[in-house]
This record gives sequence, structure tokens and C-alpha cells, in this order.
Amino acid sequence: MFSLSVPAVVALLSLTAPSALAALLQSADDAASQLSSTKYDYIIVGGGTAGGVLANRLSEDSSNKVLLIEAGSSDYNNTNIQVPWLAPVLTHSQFDWNYTTAPQEALNNRSIGYARGKVLGGSSSINYMIYTRGSEDDWNRYASLTGDDGWKWDNVLNYAKKLENFTNAPSVANASSKFVSTVHSTKGPVGAGLPQVTLPIDQLALNAQQELSSEFKFNQDLNAGDMTGMSWTPFAIAGGARSNSARDYVEPALSRDNLDVLVNTQVVKVLKTGTDGDTPVVNGVQFTSGPKEKLYNLTATKEVILSAGAIGTPQILLLSGIGPADQAKALSIESIVDLPDVGQNMQDHPLLTTNFEVSSNDTLDNLTLNTTFQAEQLALWTNNRTGDFTLGACNSWAWQRLADNDTVFKNVTDPSAGSKSPHYQLIWSDLYIAFSGGAFPQGHFLTLISNLYTPISRGSLTLNTTDPFTYPIINPGLLSDEAGFDIHTMREALKAGRRFLGAKAWKDWIVAEYGASANATTDEAIDEYIRANALVVNHVSGTVAMGKSGSTGKGSGALNPDLTVKGVKGLRVVDASIFPIIPAGHTMVPVYILAERAADLVKNPSSGSGSSGSGGSNSAAPIGTSFVAGIASAIVALAAYLL
Ligand SMILES: Cc1cc2nc3c(=O)[nH]c(=O)nc-3n(C[C@H](O)[C@H](O)[C@H](O)COP(=O)(O)OP(=O)(O)OC[C@H]3O[C@@H](n4cnc5c(N)ncnc54)[C@H](O)[C@@H]3O)c2cc1C
Ligand SMILES: *[C@@H]1O[C@H](CO)[C@@H](O)[C@H](O)[C@H]1NC(C)=O
Ligand SMILES: *[C@@H]1O[C@H](CO)[C@@H](O)[C@H](O)[C@H]1NC(C)=O
Ligand SMILES: *[C@@H]1O[C@H](CO)[C@@H](O)[C@H](O)[C@H]1NC(C)=O
Ligand SMILES: *[C@@H]1O[C@H](CO)[C@@H](O)[C@H](O)[C@H]1NC(C)=O
Ligand SMILES: *[C@@H]1O[C@H](CO)[C@@H](O)[C@H](O)[C@H]1NC(C)=O
Ligand SMILES: *[C@@H]1O[C@H](CO)[C@@H](O)[C@H](O)[C@H]1NC(C)=O
Ligand SMILES: *[C@@H]1O[C@H](CO)[C@@H](O)[C@H](O)[C@H]1NC(C)=O
Ligand SMILES: *[C@@H]1O[C@H](CO)[C@@H](O)[C@H](O)[C@H]1NC(C)=O
Ligand SMILES: *[C@@H]1O[C@H](CO)[C@@H](O)[C@H](O)[C@H]1NC(C)=O
Ligand SMILES: *[C@@H]1O[C@H](CO)[C@@H](O)[C@H](O)[C@H]1NC(C)=O
Ligand SMILES: *[C@@H]1O[C@H](CO)[C@@H](O)[C@H](O)[C@H]1NC(C)=O
Ligand SMILES: *[C@@H]1O[C@H](CO)[C@@H](O)[C@H](O)[C@H]1NC(C)=O
Repeated sequence: MFSLSVPAVVALLSLTAPSALAALLQSADDAASQLSSTKYDYIIVGGGTAGGVLANRLSEDSSNKVLLIEAGSSDYNNTNIQVPWLAPVLTHSQFDWNYTTAPQEALNNRSIGYARGKVLGGSSSINYMIYTRGSEDDWNRYASLTGDDGWKWDNVLNYAKKLENFTNAPSVANASSKFVSTVHSTKGPVGAGLPQVTLPIDQLALNAQQELSSEFKFNQDLNAGDMTGMSWTPFAIAGGARSNSARDYVEPALSRDNLDVLVNTQVVKVLKTGTDGDTPVVNGVQFTSGPKEKLYNLTATKEVILSAGAIGTPQILLLSGIGPADQAKALSIESIVDLPDVGQNMQDHPLLTTNFEVSSNDTLDNLTLNTTFQAEQLALWTNNRTGDFTLGACNSWAWQRLADNDTVFKNVTDPSAGSKSPHYQLIWSDLYIAFSGGAFPQGHFLTLISNLYTPISRGSLTLNTTDPFTYPIINPGLLSDEAGFDIHTMREALKAGRRFLGAKAWKDWIVAEYGASANATTDEAIDEYIRANALVVNHVSGTVAMGKSGSTGKGSGALNPDLTVKGVKGLRVVDASIFPIIPAGHTMVPVYILAERAADLVKNPSSGSGSSGSGGSNSAAPIGTSFVAGIASAIVALAAYLL
């Protein structure tokens, strides 16, 4: 139903884009002569979360001429992108690369859908908008792993503030008790805040936390350094609509005559243009409008910056001969530099849903079950940017650690960065969600989503062919660690979620666990359920990791701490590829943060450690689900409304 009905409806919904703005170039072929006659100081590859930040910050200096190249379209104003509640329909849409993982051995050999944004704004235009910075411990560990104090929490907090406009709609009840205003800013470009609509389960969850406070402590603001405990959920949603890097960083910079943005154009390689002493200089790019279309070469006078994301960036590097020399040789690619870490160290957060039947009729399942109600809510969004369509996946949640005396620590060293970093996440959503499919049971539900945030498992990305339009082999290696820490923690997360929902506070709300997980009561049965059903949170990271300066050997990192590529000149990587260890949180804000710092590192190379972002100017799963089935009908209604 989903795949049949949505594409047609999406086309109806696309707002008519205005004719191309001066700096927004829709086609490499049309713009070829303009591009080849311009000297660009910086060429940024990938107009996603990080690329948008760089395009804005580097073009703040009018002496820099900047080109941003994006494979997807410039349709970031599309209504499906703007309406927060419609986020699920963006997966498997024209804005998704539609990657698939290699068969995951520990998940019964299932290959699972792997979404990535393909549109200006990248994954920030298609994600679920959850807004977490990562913990103080995570960032301090990046500083110690790279030997660069500039990655410490105390320093990156300046960038976390620089990027955000954290404000609340007037309708947010008791807002001041729901976040700590001193760790936030209202002056940055990315709008964020707390959910505007109060749900009945919000109070029940608070009551449950108080009842079980020895296990579930309350955390007023998980973006203040300590991520653990139950808290309110912040989102990159402002004025009822999605924030993304296209709207917040690229659009405000489009009026500058020193920025050009070229969309619908895929970079296939970076090019060696010469040598500096013995060191290859790699400051050229090769790009095209599509398979079998004309190829263009262009050289940056200063740097090429790869921001194509944790799949696109290693793919481009491997295609260019920057990566493991043995892999290049096997595909007859001429090696520029042997960097064994490129494409290795892939990490993501495994996800699990379980459903609970509830006795109330007052849940967000209303939006699927009651078309009158749905139409009312859509009208509220369309007219006033209010109502249920401004919501994300949950209003509150908990981030928890395994007990210090958990027996698993007899087998493994704790992979978390420290006591302020959670091992797992518990989300309670006010409706039926089953990302992996199945028919909507036509009732009222609560969905528990329990996810692992400190995986030990590592995977890899490798090329299958030298054709840049053939997808690489993407293997996040989910739950594959030999010690079994990952499946153990997934199992403990589900048990903790059941304990939370088992609090007396829920007794008049929750009827019973529903569906296939309900019978999974023994450890063995839980593991079986996990292997048959786990998916992923879509936080792929770590495939071109930074390490200490110097060594290019295996395990020492492909990037220097300033994100320049080891062994070459003129090339940097700025996106989710760079994390040596995946943050124990959602990854969008960490990417915004690192991109803000990277912009300073590019502008002022000596700013290295201790540079501050404060005072800067602020110009700027395969979803065949019943959840989605509901959303798809919502879109039909929205389309009807707009027409
Ligand atoms: C469905 C989904 C839900 C998510 N939910 C959340 C969430 O709620 N909260 C959160 O914090 N994180 C979430 N994430 C993760 C988060 O969005 C990403 O980690 C983050 O946005 C990655 O930023 P990036 O700059 O590394 O890559 P991206 O934002 O993906 O940008 C890469 C860009 O490069 C372009 N590109 C790729 N290859 C090429 C090429 N060869 N030539 C030209 N352009 C190219 C792509 O089209 C894309 O625009 C989610 C992700 C997905 C997919
Ligand atoms: C997106 O919408 C904004 C605000 O309406 C407008 O200024 C901008 O030109 C639009 N951009 C595109 C690419 O359609
Ligand atoms: C992804 O898949 C959907 C559904 O099949 C399709 O409509 C869309 O065009 C695909 N995306 C891309 C970028 O090809
Ligand atoms: C911050 O957001 C608020 C509310 O959305 C808005 O009124 C204000 O103009 C924004 N400030 C900046 C600097 O963009
Ligand atoms: C582009 O660069 C490639 C690799 O250096 C080279 O083989 C090719 O001839 C160049 N094309 C043009 C048109 O200069
Ligand atoms: C829920 O709605 C159904 C059908 O309208 C009704 O029969 C039932 O009494 C309602 N239950 C509650 C708890 O309101
Ligand atoms: C569910 O629908 C009823 C009207 O039928 C409404 O009063 C209630 O607020 C809705 N609940 C939610 C969570 O949207
Ligand atoms: C459906 O929603 C409408 C509008 O909110 C409400 O009046 C009606 O009672 C709802 N129907 C049911 C069965 O809940
Ligand atoms: C929302 O918009 C409608 C139509 O413009 C208006 O009648 C209504 O009063 C608005 N509601 C709120 C809460 O602002
Ligand atoms: C861990 O400690 C708690 C309380 O301190 C205790 O109840 C529990 O049995 C211990 N667990 C193990 C596995 O030792
Ligand atoms: C620790 O390792 C032993 C031996 O491999 C295994 O039997 C046990 O289940 C492991 N404990 C945990 C908690 O994973
Ligand atoms: C590699 O590419 C070939 C030819 O395009 C294709 O048939 C095969 O399925 C691919 N293998 C993987 C693992 O993606
Ligand atoms: C759970 O087990 C009971 C007893 O074996 C069985 O009747 C029921 O169908 C099972 N439920 C599910 C959802 O598998």
C-alpha cells in the first residue's frame, strides 16, 4: 500500500520551486562554462548536514569563493520535509539514497534498509529531528583519542551554542523546568525546542520515573553534558516545522555572490593535481550529472572538503585510490596513498520495537483511525503550524547505563566513554510503530523502542565495482561482536523498558505487551526476537575516522585531528565519517558541532586546540509499516486539503 500510493502523492505535494536563484545551479551541463571559468578556493562535496554548515561559514569571508556540490535536488521546501510528523515517509522516497546493508549475520542474515538523505540538507532533511549533542564524556574521549583538546566538551560547547536557536513555542507547558537555559543559545541558525503538544502519557511517564527513581533518575537537560536519565525530548523543530541545514545554513548564504551551489550533480572522484615535495596534492574533483553523462574536472585553489556522509565520503575516497592499497589493487585503481582505515570502523546503533496495547482512546493512533480528527490536525498545521503534526517520535524518554556490577563487565571492558554516557536508550511512543512491517492492528497502543548506543561491533564499507553509480558493500556488522556485549545490552534494554512500563503508574493505561515479543520472556527467546526484528537508528559513523597526527598505519586513523586526510595535501573530511567511536546519542547535532569547529579550522589553521566558537556571527528501514500506512493516508488527506 505504502509503495503504491506515496510516490504519486508526493509529487502532488512538492511546492513549486521558484526559478533558480543566482547562485543555485541546477545542472552541471548547463553551468559548465561558468564553473570552469571560476576559481574556487574551496569545493565542498555533499550539501548535507555538515556541507551546509561549511558552505555558510566559509562564504562568510567574502574573500573566499566557495562551491558546494550536491547529488540530490534543491527541493528542501517540499511539504513532506517541512511537516515533522511526516518524517517516516521520507525514507524510501525520492529524497533517500535507498541503500541496503549486506546480510547481517547476527540478524539472521537479514539485509536491512539503510536510509541517507539525497537532497540539499542531506540526512538533516529526512531524519527524525531528535536533537542530542552527545555527552561530555564522549567529546572528552575524542580529545584524548586524537590528542587535540579542541575536541573537549568545554570547547565544543561553544559551537553547540553557536549553531542553535533553542526556543519554545508559547504552548510548551512548564518549559523552564524541561531544559537548562544556560547551556543553550537563542542566536544560532538551527531552530530547536521541546514538543509543543502535551500527551496524556507525558504525566504517566513522569509518575513512573518518580516511582522507580532509584533506577530512572530525572535529568532536566540531557544536552548539558550528562546524557543519562529520563528527560524531555528536544527536536530540531521550530515554529512547528523541520529545521535542516539547507534552510538554516545554505538558504541564508545564497544571496552571497561568493557562494555557488550546484545540485543534481554527483562527485565520482577526487583528483591528484600534483605533488608538494613527495606528498600528493589532491585538490581536484570529478563530477557528472549521472551515469554515462559527461564528466567534468575542477580544481580548488585551496582545498576540497568531503562532506558526502559516512557512506558517500569513503566511497569517493576508495574510488580515488585513497584507502587500503590492497583493495585498490584488486580493482585496478591506481593508489594515491595507502590508508588502511578508509571504509573500516563502521558503526551504528541497533534498534528494536515492541508494542503494548493500551486501554485509552486518547493516543496518536487517532491520526490513523479517525480521518475527521486527522483532517482537523492537518488544518492546524497548515494554518497555524500547531497540533499533532508538529510532533516527533516521543515527548519524553530515558537514557540508561547497565549496572556497574553487570556480569558482562567480567567479559568486556566498558565501551562507554564514562558515567555520563548511556549504554542504551528507551523511547515510549504514543502510537503503534512497526518499522519492519505488518498490518496496523486498528487499536490504541504504546510502542517501546529500545536501542543500543555503545556498540562494540564494527563493520566496513568496501567497493563492489569501480562504477561510482553502483552502491558500495555496506556492512555495519550489527550485533557481531564476539564477546556478545551488544546483544546482551539490547536484551537488558528491553528488560529495563518492560520494568519502566511495569510501574504502577501505567496500570490503568497499559493492558499488555502485544504481538510477537509478548511471549519472549526468557533470555533465549528475547535474543531470538532481537535477531529476527532488530533494525538500525540510521546513525552510520566512523568510516574515515580521525586519530592522532602522524602515523597512517592500520588503526591509527585516516584523518589528522584537524580533519585533513593523512598522507596528502589539499583534502579534508567533515561529516559523520570522522568519529573514531560513534557518539552515544543521535548524530545530527554532533555533526553540526564538528562542522562548525571544522569551519574555524579551515579559516584559521592555527586555531587548533582551544579555539572558541563563541562570538561568531550567526548569519545564517524499509518502512512498509502500519505507522506509515497511517501516514500515507494522512498525506492523501493533506494533498486533498492543499488542492
Ligand atoms: C531516517 C533517518 C533518521 C535519523 N534520525 C535522526 C534523528 O532523529 N536525530 C539525529 O541526530 N540524527 C538522526 N539521523 C542521523 C543524522 O541525520 C546523520 O547522522 C547526519 O545528518 C549525517 O550528517 P552528514 O553531514 O555526515 O551526512 P548527510 O547529512 O547525509 O549529508 C551527505 C550529503 O552528501 C550528498 N552526497 C553523497 N554522496 C555524494 C556524491 N558522491 N556527490 C555529491 N553529493 C553527495 C548526499 O546526497 C547528502 O546530501 C537519522 C538519519 C536518517 C537517515
Ligand atoms: C524555500 O522557501 C524559502 C521561503 O519561502 C524561499 O525563500 C526559498 O527561495 C525556497 N528555496 C527553494 C530552493 O525553493
Ligand atoms: C528510493 O525508492 C523510492 C521507492 O521505491 C523511489 O521512489 C525513489 O525514487 C528512490 N530514491 C532514489 C534517490 O532513487
Ligand atoms: C529564534 O527562534 C525564534 C522562535 O522561532 C524566532 O522568533 C527568532 O527570530 C529566532 N532567532 C534567530 C536569531 O533566528
Ligand atoms: C580529468 O581528470 C582525469 C584524471 O586526472 C584525466 O584522466 C582526464 O583526462 C581529465 N579530464 C579532462 C577533461 O581534463
Ligand atoms: C473507545 O472507543 C470505542 C469505540 O468508539 C468505545 O466503544 C470505547 O468505549 C472507548 N473506550 C474508552 C476507554 O473511551
Ligand atoms: C484523540 O482523538 C480525540 C478526539 O477523538 C481527541 O480528543 C484526543 O485529544 C486525541 N488524542 C491525541 C493524542 O491526539
Ligand atoms: C473523531 O474525531 C472527531 C474530531 O476530533 C471527534 O469529534 C470524534 O468524536 C472522533 N471519533 C471517534 C470515534 O473518536
Ligand atoms: C488556526 O487557524 C484557523 C484557520 O485560520 C483559525 O480559525 C484558528 O483559530 C487557528 N487556531 C489557533 C489555535 O490559532
Ligand atoms: C548488583 O548490585 C545490586 C545492588 O547493589 C544487587 O541487587 C544485584 O544482585 C547485583 N547483581 C549482580 C549480578 O551481582
Ligand atoms: C561471559 O562469557 C562467558 C564465557 O564465554 C559466557 O558464558 C557468559 O554468558 C558471558 N556473560 C555475559 C553476561 O555475556
Ligand atoms: C556486486 O555487483 C554485481 C554486479 O553489478 C552485483 O551483481 C552484485 O550483487 C554486487 N554484490 C554486492 C555484494 O553488492
Ligand atoms: C504466545 O504463546 C501462547 C501460548 O503458547 C500462544 O497461544 C500465543 O499465540 C503466543 N502469542 C504470540 C503473539 O505468539
